Amino acid sequence: MKASGSEALRAAYPFASRMHGVQSSVIRDLLKFAQRPGIISLAGGLPSPFTFDVEGIQQATDEVLAHQPARALQYGLTDGQPALKQELARLTSSRGAAVTEDSLVVTTGSQQGIDLIARLLIDPGDVVVVERPAYLAALQTFALAQASLRTIDSDASGACVEQIDAVLDAAQAAGHSVKLIYVVANFANPSGATLTRERRLHLLQAAVARRVFVLEDDPYGELRSFGASVPPLIALASEVPGAADWCGYLSTLSKIVAPGFRLGWLALPPAVRDQAVICKQGMDLHSSTFAQEVAARYLATGRLEARLPSIRAAYRERNEALAAALDRHLGSRIEYNRPEGGMFLWARLNDPVDASEVLQHAIEEGMIFVPGSAFYADAPDHSTLRLSFATPAADELDAAVQRLVRALDRSLRRGG
Ligand SMILES: Cc1ncc(COP(=O)(O)O)c(C=O)c1O
Repeated sequence: MKASGSEALRAAYPFASRMHGVQSSVIRDLLKFAQRPGIISLAGGLPSPFTFDVEGIQQATDEVLAHQPARALQYGLTDGQPALKQELARLTSSRGAAVTEDSLVVTTGSQQGIDLIARLLIDPGDVVVVERPAYLAALQTFALAQASLRTIDSDASGACVEQIDAVLDAAQAAGHSVKLIYVVANFANPSGATLTRERRLHLLQAAVARRVFVLEDDPYGELRSFGASVPPLIALASEVPGAADWCGYLSTLSKIVAPGFRLGWLALPPAVRDQAVICKQGMDLHSSTFAQEVAARYLATGRLEARLPSIRAAYRERNEALAAALDRHLGSRIEYNRPEGGMFLWARLNDPVDASEVLQHAIEEGMIFVPGSAFYADAPDHSTLRLSFATPAADELDAAVQRLVRALDRSLRRGG
């Protein structure tokens, strides 16, 4: 059937109110440019394909099909396959948070974990507090849940949690129910910032005092390039009376094994965990049993732990290469905080330009990035941009920055 007048049709369709104003993700839209020949993409947060352990995953797949085909191909448990939960409990504990398998829910990517928590807690109009800037697809999820978003700033040390009390007071005074604080504490997407231990403790204290649930989303914690790691919020909860009931932890295999598995996990307090399982039953029955069994087998081999140092080293090299290229080619025309790990560098242009306009010239010059305005739940800062160093090699990062400079110069000439 030929589509016609799609704008008019969209207006005429009886879409649910939750779809009103939900925008397509700028990043997903940019992916079509990333596939153009010759383009160097600093836009997506795609793990570098060299990190995919094809041989190990092939071996695990063969073993699963040879030894337990019925278990891997059959329907499974909603909270996850026991073998995978065992491995994920081990992995989470190795990050300083000693969790039991009972506290876990395996999710279809960590994106589903955000959605699950939103469905569990948020009625239309309820307040969710996010960082400024925040992870774009979480903003989409909260928009779909019809949440009312409030923001706290983020600086080089992560979310400015000292703003939390004022934000919560104002929301409560306006008659809103504040339900959730969502935070990416390690090498945040998009800010690259890491929340200090003091701020993590402060956040937990605020959560307990206000009875607001805090969800820490931690896709990047294993990808530390510099410095010492800071324990997850659920680990620090033991230092704040009552906090264990008010915080949850979300992580994923996407950035350390492969996003194609679509496997993440939540560690939750018992009451929240039980409700999450009921909610997930209605969403997708369970995450792929096949993917879970292969992942469990793979993780049990210890190959991930053996590979992590070289994965970290490769991202560290790219992290350094991007920073060096920015210093070399842009100098004082750009400001940024050096991320201690992860995949993203957040920057502010000092030239009087709008990063979205610069992007148009950058596409013609052969590079793309994400304008920072996409990541704001409220008034955006148009001079910001997110640069991902995950995928291009070090020399490509240098070439990409040179192209960015040309795009910037073209924007300035047009502006003048
Ligand atoms: C902060 C954050 N959370 C969640 C996700 C979703 O990851 P996945 O659904 O692949 O686990 C991403 C992916 O980029 C992310 O950056």
